[in-house]
Amino acid sequence: MLQIEENVSLKNFNTFGIEAKARYFVEISREEELAELFIDPQWHKTERLILGGGSNLLLVTDFSGLVIRMNIRGIEHRINHDTVFVEAGAGEVWNDLVNYCVDHNFAGMENLSLIPGSVGASPIQNIGAYGVELKDVFESCHAFEIATGQIKIFNKDGCKFGYRESVFKSALKGQYIITSVKFRLSARPKLNLSYGAIEQELNSRGISAPTIKDVSQVVSAIRVSKLPDPSTIGNSGSFFKNPVIAAAQFEGIVKDYLAISNYPAGEGFIKLAAGWLIEQCGWKGKTVGRTGTWKNQALVLVNHGGATGQEIYDLSSQIIDSVYTKFGVTLEREVNIIR
Ligand code: FAD
Ligand code: EPU
Repeated sequence: MLQIEENVSLKNFNTFGIEAKARYFVEISREEELAELFIDPQWHKTERLILGGGSNLLLVTDFSGLVIRMNIRGIEHRINHDTVFVEAGAGEVWNDLVNYCVDHNFAGMENLSLIPGSVGASPIQNIGAYGVELKDVFESCHAFEIATGQIKIFNKDGCKFGYRESVFKSALKGQYIITSVKFRLSARPKLNLSYGAIEQELNSRGISAPTIKDVSQVVSAIRVSKLPDPSTIGNSGSFFKNPVIAAAQFEGIVKDYLAISNYPAGEGFIKLAAGWLIEQCGWKGKTVGRTGTWKNQALVLVNHGGATGQEIYDLSSQIIDSVYTKFGVTLEREVNIIR
């Protein structure tokens, strides 16, 4: 029998460490429990928040609906010649899955080491880091359709992955709950060392023929040096997306700011480093009340202790305003804002 709890503190369920309450809260450990839950028409009418590790959301106020915390576990793999299919429950910790693959010498996940959160959330924003995105290793996922109670299978095309985007954040927002994800990995090492910092770190360690494990360890070390650990300082990683602008707009900016960090983003478009833009506006490492930006990465907003979600949201609005005033570029929040 499912246990629906009431007025549950979410402080330990969000990496910003915001004190906010859920009016209703339920934990799901088996796929069938979702059908059991949604037999009750009340939950179709109630606002819902699907929760994994809470590492990509900002709770601005108490949540007056039902929080569905995904805890479906299990990791399995099947080897077919050079290809390995790995399937994991939505509630598995992402980095535990990466470690499972690294330990088995399955290639493809190593650049995504140490990203916080759950397996089930990984397709939502097509997580990415160090030259690899989820879509590069994604095969399919199972998702519970709330309206019908059916389990649907989404392949890669159906997910419409983009930079920090998927169909689950856009056209199908709020309609599906991902229950498991299947990945296509390689039984032969096929390393992606294109991200400059990886090569530098390998060189500085004197590693010329890296293994999957070496890449995982190097990526983890780079991340630890740049990003605050949520267990000691509340944060949700990059608070904004890196903005993609038209080449013509870029030409207008670069003539005044020759050092601007930028990358090609498809024909006629340029991606700017939001952290660079924010730093240029004087925000890097700045403390504002109980909030601030991280000293080593201006794109990361932090809770210095006891901040409310509204305080962090207000800081993000000030940053958006000042980047727009200086560069004419509008930053978009990457973190999901929950009210
Ligand atoms: P949550 O925060 O619980 O949820 C995020 C969103 O997904 C919410 O909208 C939620 O409703 C929805 N959701 C969650 N689970 C499901 C499900 N099973 N079905 C349907 N919807 C669901 N992200 C990157 O891409 N790259 C990085 O390098 C990176 N670095 C980070 C570093 C730090 C220190 C932190 C704190 C975060 C970082 N992130 C990064 C962001 C975050 O780790 C990812 O977005 C992660 O996938 C979120 O997983 P989660 O389980 O915590 O999701
Ligand atoms: N930069 C600055 N100042 C800063 C921060 C960055 O000048 O305060 C410059 C850096 O010098 C570099 C450029 O900006 O030239 C890019 O910085 P970095 O390599 O740290 O990456 P990022 O673009 O800031 C993105 C992702 C991260 C991901 C890293 C590594 C987004 C929104 N963020 O950050 O993802 O880990 O690349 O691939 O795309 C997340 O989503 O939560 C996250 C941490």
